Amino acid sequence: MAQADIALIGLAVMGQNLVLNMNDHGFVVPLLEAGDIIIDGGNSEYRDTTRRCQDLKAKGILFVRSGVSGGEEGARYGPSLMPGGNKEAWPHIKTIFQSIAAKVGTGEPCCDWVGDEGAGHFVKMVHNGIEYGDMQLICEAYHLMKDVLGMEHDEMAKVFEEWNKTELDSFLIEITANILKFHDTDGQHLLPKIRDSAGQKGTGKWTAISALEYGVPVTLIGEAVFARCLSSLKDEGIQASKKLAGPPKTKFGGDKKSFLEDIQKALYASKIISYTQGFMLLRQAAKEFGWTLNYGGIALMWRGGCIIRSVFLGKIKDAFDWNPQLQNLLLDDFFKTAVQKCQDSWRQAISTGVQAGIPMPCFTTALSFYDGYRHEMLPANLIQAQRDYFGAHTYELLAKPGQFIHTNWTGHGGSVSSSSYNA
Ligand code: 6PG
Repeated sequence: MAQADIALIGLAVMGQNLVLNMNDHGFVVPLLEAGDIIIDGGNSEYRDTTRRCQDLKAKGILFVRSGVSGGEEGARYGPSLMPGGNKEAWPHIKTIFQSIAAKVGTGEPCCDWVGDEGAGHFVKMVHNGIEYGDMQLICEAYHLMKDVLGMEHDEMAKVFEEWNKTELDSFLIEITANILKFHDTDGQHLLPKIRDSAGQKGTGKWTAISALEYGVPVTLIGEAVFARCLSSLKDEGIQASKKLAGPPKTKFGGDKKSFLEDIQKALYASKIISYTQGFMLLRQAAKEFGWTLNYGGIALMWRGGCIIRSVFLGKIKDAFDWNPQLQNLLLDDFFKTAVQKCQDSWRQAISTGVQAGIPMPCFTTALSFYDGYRHEMLPANLIQAQRDYFGAHTYELLAKPGQFIHTNWTGHGGSVSSSSYNA
């Protein structure tokens, strides 16, 4: 009987195309023998993965958890693969994985070993969170074009096509242009007929939960998840639209070309913030779990094949190649300058949108993060004072960091303070 190189369970949209792709590359799949390597290529929760890894290790089975991205087409012709888990398995599957993965540049595969235990699934989870952010940012740009500038669908499609020739060049911008110009069988545009209530399978939510758990301000992905939640309150929204007033509708009086440029730059700057936050989360998770993550390698894995693939990820790879210890993407010269160049337009797009009553949760949270991150002094001194006032939670003085003290603010409070710890 022929020996299998690999077996695959779960032959749905992506699974069956992955098998066909492996077959094209000469690898066979007749039977899965109990024993050596099991690969989980689903969007599994990384802690389940870690648990499974430990259980299987006890039985002598090598478990690999691989993030797989690229949808139906990617699975068939070249996905982005993010394997992690028991590294002893890697030499056995490396050729298969790297052969079938998408290639970028001079043929570099969008696949490399990510790290131990649930690292592969954690990286895929963050990829999906970033995907939620990118999609919401594009939606906010579309909303501004549609409701502030009053643009028609074909015209908006052309703008996205143009943007796809710039630093925004990416799969999601490309498909947005295609979606905008798509006509239904009755000759009308299909997009405005689609119910504006977004679904979600949970990976964006997991990213936001991890961000809260590890205390990393991944605000943009959080807002993108909540934007989907808000959109799911469709029936309530219809009621509210009849009762709650916004600003009066006015015709846009500014320069359309220049406002479109403002939106483009707001999108680019916000995207930089989103990826900055995503990589902050990866860095913190690596610290929590003792993973050694190669951030440039992760950017390369996402550069092609996956849903968030873009030219921009090449720049992120360059930044980490230049400085593998880079603490924060915003501190890289290229990204620092890029945000600086977008800043005026970013603020302009947001203030115009706010005046017109357009919800822009991701554009605005990105700018707030930027302003918060770059401030030498935040108003958190007042929070500390409030906590100490009502609950004797103590505070530190700027001049004496590390020493926690309590003040009797009212003159009639006690001198007992609560213990100091941070969740
Ligand atoms: C991919 C996608 C894929 C899937 C997500 C999105 O990388 O190929 O991210 O994993 O499309 O499940 O799901 P939701 O938008 O339904 O959460």
